[in-house]
Amino acid sequence: MKNITVIGSGTMGNGIAHTFAQYGFEVALVDINADALAKALQTITNNLDRQLKKGSIDEIAKTNTLSRIKTYTDLKEGAASADLVIEAATENREIKLNLFKQLSEICSYDVILASNTSSISITEIAAATKNPGNVIGMHFMNPVPVMKLVEVIRGYSTSDSVTQTIMQLAQKLDKDPVEVNDYPGFVANRILMPMINEAIYTLYEGVAGVQEIDTVMKLGMAHPMGPLQLADFIGLDVCLAILKVLYDGFGNQKYAPCPLLVNMVTAGHRGIKTGSGFYKYTAGSKELVVANKFTKSPLNQ
Ligand SMILES: NC(=O)c1ccc[n+]([C@@H]2O[C@H](COP(=O)([O-])OP(=O)(O)OC[C@H]3O[C@@H](n4cnc5c(N)ncnc54)[C@H](O)[C@@H]3O)[C@@H](O)[C@H]2O)c1
Repeated sequence: MKNITVIGSGTMGNGIAHTFAQYGFEVALVDINADALAKALQTITNNLDRQLKKGSIDEIAKTNTLSRIKTYTDLKEGAASADLVIEAATENREIKLNLFKQLSEICSYDVILASNTSSISITEIAAATKNPGNVIGMHFMNPVPVMKLVEVIRGYSTSDSVTQTIMQLAQKLDKDPVEVNDYPGFVANRILMPMINEAIYTLYEGVAGVQEIDTVMKLGMAHPMGPLQLADFIGLDVCLAILKVLYDGFGNQKYAPCPLLVNMVTAGHRGIKTGSGFYKYTAGSKELVVANKFTKSPLNQ
């Protein structure tokens, strides 16, 4: 496998492209939005600079990594010579089904089509293609160049050989793959999202403020960051989309998204990528959102 096509150049797509290129693969990065592609290349450059500063890569590795990434706004052009496609477009069922239907026409029958979806059914995505046995979930974690886990999701029809190929490929990227079955939220988000949703409910009900909730979980549970900050990093729109998949998939009230999350997404506060969520972000710094009336704990008022 040499040519990897990554679809979607947002938070995850740029990290996936960065990682494959760093490990010697040729990457075609595709996005419908040319500005998103330009932003992704800038983010990859910044992240490589950070690795350079830490001494984990040298100047030649940085230059080579960047030279292996080509960008495309046309899906057909970007996926034409792919040995493997990894889709990391917006977490929306219709967008993904439509993309996989097109990929199934563009790519040859043997090409493995993987999705980085956080929660959408791999079985359903596979059913939109001509060769469902070659469709699999390859769920990277954010930030991709740093995080070791890849959740490898077997759809109902995914073949053993495709699963083995993807497990081995993840190891070649120096990741630790874990094989799981295809049920809503898989493992990672089935457990993580109810915790994030509960943290948002805790804020919404005025039990405590943003910083207090995050501090309890950081210091009390030894989490590297609090759930509200993590939600900002993931993207509040992504969190909402995953909770809706869990809610619809299991039909259980415990996954119902908190109304505060719904309001924030509707108002355009999608977390770090829009500069504001539970925190406000200015050029990498972090401060509390002043306008959010729930940021202060009622206990401290
Ligand atoms: N954000 C996270 O922490 C995280 C972690 C693991 C998995 N994921 C999953 O990764 C995927 C991408 O999430 P993200 O956070 O990077 O989203 P994002 O909103 O940051 O980026 C999505 C990108 O997809 C592009 N896009 C939309 N439709 C497209 C199409 N038809 N063709 C090409 N590009 C298209 C958009 O222009 C955008 O640039 C989602 O499925 C999400 O659930 C996200």
